[in-house]
Amino acid sequence: MLKETIEGLNIKPNGVYVDVTFGGGGHSRAILERMDSIGDLSFDIGHLYSFDQDKDALRNAIEDERWTFVHSNFRYLRNWMDYYGVEHIDGLLADLGVSFHHFDCPERGFSFRFSAPLDMRMNQTAKRTAADIVNGYSEEELAKILYLYGEMKNGRGIARNICKARSQKAILRTEDLVAASRIPAEMSKELARLFQALRIEVNDEMGALREMLVAARDLLKPGGRIAILTYHSLEDRLVKNFFRSGNLEGTIEKDFYGNILTPFEVIEKGREASEEEVERNPRARSAKLRVAEKLIVNNS
Ligand SMILES: C[S@@+](CC[C@H](N)C(=O)[O-])C[C@H]1O[C@@H](n2cnc3c(N)ncnc32)[C@H](O)[C@@H]1O
Repeated sequence: MLKETIEGLNIKPNGVYVDVTFGGGGHSRAILERMDSIGDLSFDIGHLYSFDQDKDALRNAIEDERWTFVHSNFRYLRNWMDYYGVEHIDGLLADLGVSFHHFDCPERGFSFRFSAPLDMRMNQTAKRTAADIVNGYSEEELAKILYLYGEMKNGRGIARNICKARSQKAILRTEDLVAASRIPAEMSKELARLFQALRIEVNDEMGALREMLVAARDLLKPGGRIAILTYHSLEDRLVKNFFRSGNLEGTIEKDFYGNILTPFEVIEKGREASEEEVERNPRARSAKLRVAEKLIVNNS
């Protein structure tokens, strides 16, 4: 949904934009293409700040004076914008989760298809790995993350299997986890859910998303837009409720007359990829695009 996401941002050629999930740089390049070039007659040239917590993303660096790479977790968006002296932004894009690069790098441990250390850190310098969680969390804590982040209805049973297996021998590699879970190899969707749940916990993806949403709301200019591609129901629900209410609790406040008080107008309500796109890129199957515009008159 690259085209739809970029269109959703309604880019101003001299605006200030943030792509908080740079990855391979496809979205960032598309944003820059829509902005004025240095040679253009405009006095104030726009700028794009692209974040990625994975230093490997810098291999896709863009040579362009209008572009700055920020090697950081996007939860620190506000601090970095302060650092660069940016008070307001015209738009922000987030294409959440992991990139193709992560799945294609066997040694990073994101995929159950490759034998690798159980790592799953997007930021290679972070302290906690998936092995720490699998061997250190209580059965109850494991069951909770499998249920919440993997949407695994049988999370309790899987957590029990993992705890039984680790009492014999520490679970240190991807294949150890697959065996410990006792999920049959042919149930690849279940295995994908197990790995997704751990990845979300390792990288505190929900916590980072919450902090980034609040910072983005406060940084956005009136008329500015946030476009977010979500890939699982928990993050999608958080973004949906945040766009509707303007707060993390999703509490809808109303004025005396019953009008909803919110800083946003919702522009896209969870658009899904076309069948052709899903055929080309299976990851797009679970993608949902949500776009919101900051209201000119903030009625919250
Ligand atoms: C789905 S990919 C983005 C792909 C990108 N839109 C493109 O066009 O190639 C997500 C990227 O965001 C990064 N990422 C995920 N969560 C992050 C966070 N909290 N802070 C910074 N980067 C993050 C990942 O390392 C990954 O490279």
